[in-house]
Amino acid sequence: MVYTFQMLNIGRTRSQSRSNRSLPLGGMDYVDPKRKSSVGKILVAAALLAVFLLMMIKHSPTSSTSTHFSRREPGVTHVLVTGGAGYIGSHAALRLLKDSYRVTIVDNLSRGNLGAVRVLQGLFPEAGRLQFIYADLGDAKAVNKIFSENAFDAVMHFAAVAYVGESTLQPLRYYHNITSNTLVVLEAMAAHGVKTLIYSSTCATYGEPKKMPIVEETTQVPINPYGKAKKMAEDMILDFSKTTDMAVMILRYFNVIGSDPEGRLGEAPRPELREHGRISGACFDAARGIIPGLKVRGTDYNTTDGTCIRDYIDVTDLVDAHVKALQKAEPHKVGIYNVGTGKGRSVKEFVEACKKATGVEIKVEYLARRPGDYAEVYSDPTKIWLELNWTARYTDLQESLKMAWRWQKTHRNGYGPPGAIPS
Ligand SMILES: NC(=O)c1ccc[n+]([C@@H]2O[C@H](COP(=O)([O-])OP(=O)(O)OC[C@H]3O[C@@H](n4cnc5c(N)ncnc54)[C@H](O)[C@@H]3O)[C@@H](O)[C@H]2O)c1
Repeated sequence: MVYTFQMLNIGRTRSQSRSNRSLPLGGMDYVDPKRKSSVGKILVAAALLAVFLLMMIKHSPTSSTSTHFSRREPGVTHVLVTGGAGYIGSHAALRLLKDSYRVTIVDNLSRGNLGAVRVLQGLFPEAGRLQFIYADLGDAKAVNKIFSENAFDAVMHFAAVAYVGESTLQPLRYYHNITSNTLVVLEAMAAHGVKTLIYSSTCATYGEPKKMPIVEETTQVPINPYGKAKKMAEDMILDFSKTTDMAVMILRYFNVIGSDPEGRLGEAPRPELREHGRISGACFDAARGIIPGLKVRGTDYNTTDGTCIRDYIDVTDLVDAHVKALQKAEPHKVGIYNVGTGKGRSVKEFVEACKKATGVEIKVEYLARRPGDYAEVYSDPTKIWLELNWTARYTDLQESLKMAWRWQKTHRNGYGPPGAIPS
């Protein structure tokens, strides 16, 4: 399926490359297959998006072809942030911009929010700071065009579909979106001489290790298509890196929570992903009364309070790890790091922190175990501390949830409908 909406520059800057405006949006990731039944809705949404995109093109500058993004500039590091309209990618872009990096976001908005990009553009409107390119990484031709028209120094590859449950229902989508698209990115990097890659991986690549905490040498035996697709992508990157002078950093995140402490960005997944959602999303939905309460599955695990243990890492710490990884990336070297707090928290603890952070007495239902859930997962973050001088600082669960709740409360509809800009 190839969409022919053409839109690349939504920004206020006058620096967007004109030729970048004609990338086709293609690939299977644009429309959630579940929504195929509501063809009418999709057509209406598509028409609205098309009108919006055309309006944007109309209002885009046409006179200046960018030199900022297409040429290397001494002292300026230009980072391609794939998936930069999503939760973690937008926070990473914000941090990079704050640290004076030049940023290009490439996203197909299948899961991300144009509203997040708009916030970033509002904060950094100057020419040559941020550009947004609307493209699908599954479209190799489009990706190559982007690389040929932009002088990237490094890639932070966040773009992915990222729900374990969904991956078991749509495995091919996951292998396509994660593994195959990473191949496209790697090939484009190789073809265009971009030598530094920071890759978003996950603790799901470890599967169910018997021994805790998880160290980087823990054998990776992923148990779902999401973890397997990420592991395959890691393997491709590692094999390729052996033949080149690439600088590679693979970061395996644990459970990411929180949002920008200054309340500018937040986590706003599509409502239809709710059923696959993460525990923080469920907590906020319950606090807002969107769902009746929280369901805790399994109270008889061999843990302190019988509920599962996970390692929750605040997104601000996570993006700090990315910046440190970028700074320490070296040619011919690969760094693989766990990014977690090293501290396991039980689901019961999480629920209590959520109640306190939101001030809502959330209803909790305790149910039998869900098949496939493992009792305990937490990281040993010693390696990243020793080698990158990184350690988690936002380790108060309640505080992280409080920051995220502040954004949730003021953004009841997230960033607004997909493709729309909040007023
Ligand atoms: N959130 C977590 O707890 C967590 C944990 C471990 C790893 N990760 C990894 O971090 C990365 C970011 O996750 P997130 O939570 O921000 O997810 P997200 O869904 O909020 O963001 C992903 C972004 O990628 C974009 N995207 C997806 N497919 C694309 C494609 N084919 N072309 C262009 N853009 C595309 C989406 O539109 C979205 O903006 C992912 O790689 C994920 O696997 C996340």
